[in-house]
Amino acid sequence: MAVKKVVIPAAGMGTRFLPATKAVPKEMLPLVDKPVIQEVVEEAVRSGISEIVLITGMGKGAIEDHFDISTDLEGFLASRGQEELLKMVRDISRMVDIISVRQKEPRGLGHAVQCAKAAVGDEPFAVMLGDDVVDSEVPCIAQLLKVFEKYKSTVVALEFVPDSDVDKYGIVEGEEVEPGIVKIKNLVEKPPLKDAPSNMAVIGRYILTPEIFSAIEGLAPDDRGEIQLTNALQDIANSDEVYGVVFEGTRYDAGNRFGFLVANIVYALKDGELGPQLREYLKGLVAFWGDR
Ligand code: G1P
Repeated sequence: MAVKKVVIPAAGMGTRFLPATKAVPKEMLPLVDKPVIQEVVEEAVRSGISEIVLITGMGKGAIEDHFDISTDLEGFLASRGQEELLKMVRDISRMVDIISVRQKEPRGLGHAVQCAKAAVGDEPFAVMLGDDVVDSEVPCIAQLLKVFEKYKSTVVALEFVPDSDVDKYGIVEGEEVEPGIVKIKNLVEKPPLKDAPSNMAVIGRYILTPEIFSAIEGLAPDDRGEIQLTNALQDIANSDEVYGVVFEGTRYDAGNRFGFLVANIVYALKDGELGPQLREYLKGLVAFWGDR
């Protein structure tokens, strides 16, 4: 069955980016000049998915406005003859259909996915986390879809992370069934290094089947009151199959300040207009700050 919908959890408070996120959703912070969430939505669209189920919370209206038609702005740009900008603004509003669902309490990623149950229905679906931005030739979620078509089972994206980072991710244990594809036996959410079964981390791209909903329903909250998607995936790995794909591409963790800055620098360097100027400027900066 084809995957038509993607769930994008976007209810978090964005406390790591305060004060910028006091009145602006963190998903709207820009990668150069494009909101992070648009980058993620474009990855879905490039992979053939254009129905978005957005899990939102208080104060997230700007995300819906961003993907909506803005008659005022379009009228203003048209009156000024700014055709290129007008096209860009129109394209954004036509890119996708969005259904918004409120997550009324911050109860973890598993709970956020559960909020999408009615909107998703009885179909496989994708989940994309806005904190993970992936720069790749073939969109990351398209790489997962390809594996889903073959195995018809749950698929997650995997990346090798250094020892110092295993306690920041869901970490998996499994065996490689073909190059870059792992059949997962066990998953542990943010283990201390000594308990981590490997260095293979789940990153924020998933293809899930509707069986995830009953798995989530059966879970108790962890000691922080959160319902972990990782534990629901473990249930599915026990009773069915879960595959991991070591995706091709570079992931940026735009959910923390350093990763967000790095992503901005890389995306700016790749920008036709900004890139050459920034490259020269950075050379000068390195020469000046290099050994200070
Ligand atoms: C979530 C998941 C975790 C996964 C990570 C990927 O954690 O719970 O398993 O490895 O996303 O970014 P979060 O970063 O939301 O704490």
